[in-house]
Amino acid sequence: MADKQLIKVLLVEDNPEIARLIRDMLRRSPTCTFEVTHHAALKPALEYAASNPIDIVVADLTLPDSEGFPTFFSIRSTVPNVPIIILTGIDDEEMAVQAVREGAQDYLVKSQIDMHILLRAVQYAIERHRIEAALRRATVELEERVNERTAELSLANKELEREIEERIQAQTQLVQAAKMEVIGRLASGVAHEVRNPLAIILQAKEYLEGLVDTKNEEVSSTLQSMTRALTRADTIINGLLDFSRISQLEIKPHSVNELVENSLMLVKHQCDRAHVTVEKKFGESLPPVKADKVKIEQVLVNLLINAIDAMPDGGVIRIETSVSDTVSGKAVCVEIHDSGSGIPQENLAKVFDPFFTTKRVKHGTGLGLSIVKSIMEMHHGSIDIRNRTEGGATVTLLFPL
Ligand SMILES: Nc1ncnc2c1ncn2[C@@H]1O[C@H](COP(=O)(O)OP(=O)(O)OP(=O)(O)O)[C@@H](O)[C@H]1O
Ligand SMILES: [Mg+2]
Repeated sequence: MADKQLIKVLLVEDNPEIARLIRDMLRRSPTCTFEVTHHAALKPALEYAASNPIDIVVADLTLPDSEGFPTFFSIRSTVPNVPIIILTGIDDEEMAVQAVREGAQDYLVKSQIDMHILLRAVQYAIERHRIEAALRRATVELEERVNERTAELSLANKELEREIEERIQAQTQLVQAAKMEVIGRLASGVAHEVRNPLAIILQAKEYLEGLVDTKNEEVSSTLQSMTRALTRADTIINGLLDFSRISQLEIKPHSVNELVENSLMLVKHQCDRAHVTVEKKFGESLPPVKADKVKIEQVLVNLLINAIDAMPDGGVIRIETSVSDTVSGKAVCVEIHDSGSGIPQENLAKVFDPFFTTKRVKHGTGLGLSIVKSIMEMHHGSIDIRNRTEGGATVTLLFPL
């Protein structure tokens, strides 16, 4: 026969008759061996319970040193993980019911106890308590797992949002690149078609200049406006050709600081006229960049003129050069800060579009930044333009090393 299960019972009962009766009944169990420890008062029972293993407490609530609910609460707080069965008389059954609501496993009315009822109550109480404890543990585990999963999901969600953002950016860049490609091809076609007739008109104008009376004021002013119109048409055609990348680059190592100095010299006159002062913060011993000198000076002049245009009442241009770390490695960085109007949010995405200009009155072509971007891309570099929090704009050029 298999070993009988051993159950350690703490019996707290001041009536020796009842205590003996319960002991006897437990001893006669056919399925379990009960090891009963009996105390007639609460204090010694609690002392015992605090330092000995117990499987179940069977307790009367009316004891010499404690009465009613406090008896139950003291036991429960001493052994919170042990099931408790209350022993009660007929007259305090209501209190026992209340104790069950508070967490006691069961109650037995003393005058009605028989062996079967007692054994079943004790075994069920232990089993129920075990199941309850397992349920509590499972609930805690489940909560932990749910929390872990929630944290994982929120992390995955963030990652997904980042990927979506990256994809949107990549897509925008692709669309922009495709747009530029089409415009570039169109521009170069138009430029070639217009260049020849323009050259013919220029020659014809020079030929006619020799024939007509240039002293006549009307004739002379007509010739001058023709010259202006032709010069402007020529500028636009050259801009279009630059933009459509048809010109070859002459790549050599150059000092960025020198390129900036040269460009500043070219716009000195415009700066003075517009009351714009220039501050320089050049990085020392910067590595040379591989660049086409003329093209990069063209880039810098375009950007400086944009900055001057943005400060009609004067201001400050601050140019900084440095080496900086980018996601794709080290690069020489040129930053042009101005204290001008800045760029309205709705225009930020359009400034690199060919022919986008807010300078209709000044006859801006709107090709400046698209040419600049195209030249920077030919150098495998990049350009970024953003508003400064303190007002004005910052253009950042990166030349990869
Ligand atoms: N530093 C800046 N501050 C404020 N707005 C700027 C700045 N740089 C460019 N912009 C805005 O971007 C637009 C496009 O510039 P872009 O250089 O391409 O053409 P543009 O200067 O208008 O014409 P062009 O270069 O032919 O003279 C400008 O009209 C202006 O509105
Ligand atoms: Mg410009």
